[in-house]
Amino acid sequence: MKQVRWGILGTGAIARQFVQGLNSLPEAEVLAVGSRSSASAEKFADKRNIPRRHAGYDTLASDPDVDVVYVATPHPFHAENATLCLQAGKAVLCEKPFSVNAAQAERVIGLAREKGLFLMEGMWTRFFPLMEEVRRLVSEGAIGELRMLNVDFGFRAGLDPASRLFDPRLGGGALLDVGVYCVSFASMILGPPSRSVGLAHLGETGVDEQASIILEHEGGRLANLSIGIRTATPQEATIMGTEGYVKIHAPWWRPMSMTVSRPGEEDETVEAPVSGNGFNYEAAEVIRCLEAGKTESDIMPLDETISVMRTMDGIRDAWGLRYPGEEGAP
Ligand SMILES: NC(=O)c1ccc[n+]([C@@H]2O[C@H](COP(=O)([O-])OP(=O)(O)OC[C@H]3O[C@@H](n4cnc5c(N)ncnc54)[C@H](OP(=O)(O)O)[C@@H]3O)[C@@H](O)[C@H]2O)c1
Repeated sequence: MKQVRWGILGTGAIARQFVQGLNSLPEAEVLAVGSRSSASAEKFADKRNIPRRHAGYDTLASDPDVDVVYVATPHPFHAENATLCLQAGKAVLCEKPFSVNAAQAERVIGLAREKGLFLMEGMWTRFFPLMEEVRRLVSEGAIGELRMLNVDFGFRAGLDPASRLFDPRLGGGALLDVGVYCVSFASMILGPPSRSVGLAHLGETGVDEQASIILEHEGGRLANLSIGIRTATPQEATIMGTEGYVKIHAPWWRPMSMTVSRPGEEDETVEAPVSGNGFNYEAAEVIRCLEAGKTESDIMPLDETISVMRTMDGIRDAWGLRYPGEEGAP
């Protein structure tokens, strides 16, 4: 079997987990890692037996033997890092949120399309076996016509103004970090929203620490989102239709079980165990697409990534929340 050779861009928390996911896939080889510092690249590679270490993202991007690069830096650098790799002719899997705003996403996606290269947002939740089952069930009408959904993603982080979660220069805030999962979920189930309303509490570093958002979708369908980085939430998702509802149990964003409830019937629980640490599923989708010569995934299409970013831009607009480099930023 020809293995797909991966390069890892960045050596932080999620890069560590993603490499673990790749290591459970026989069709993947982790060939190289790139870091801003050579010490970090060496340490990361030594621990994981990664043969090539690049001190600098540019040399990783131009490594001729790397097939696809996984971008695992904080959100404000995704667009720049993905652009570097695409310019060097690489396929790219870019962590969520794909970018800070829709304008950045449109530029990067435009470049991938111009060059005919594969590109995908790493919205890993979509690729779990249970999520496949959720899509199948609701599209087959198991709970009738879809009308509403509730989804929440919040956790309580200690306030650290210098951290990625709170520093505006690193794209801090709940919407970009965890809200994106909820907006993307609503989009996957109900399609793109036509309108959003929301309230946020902006904390002392100026980013949204918690928010409640309602999205309106075609036909008056509604999505209720609760998100937070200073408030723990149940981390459940419920899809409601005219003939029942489906509850995806916590943590819904790494889904393993759901209950289907219909009035007058016994509840039905569906389980879909996870193999590996879960990152293997999105990586397997990238490999399938590359092997099939596809430039994007049908499960996480690029136009939907742009639409999700536009929705998040609209939500933030109403809060007056701007990131450095954006028009109107403080
Ligand atoms: N899919 C998921 O479940 C999931 C979970 C957590 C995070 N994420 C996403 O993954 C991305 C990274 O998150 P993380 O938690 O891994 O972050 P992290 O631990 O802070 O690591 C980010 C890495 O990016 C690199 N980097 C480049 N420029 C940087 C800068 N100016 N400041 C800090 N780091 C910089 C660093 O690697 P070098 O020093 O080696 O260059 C750093 O180790 C975020 O966009 C986040 O939304 C996804």
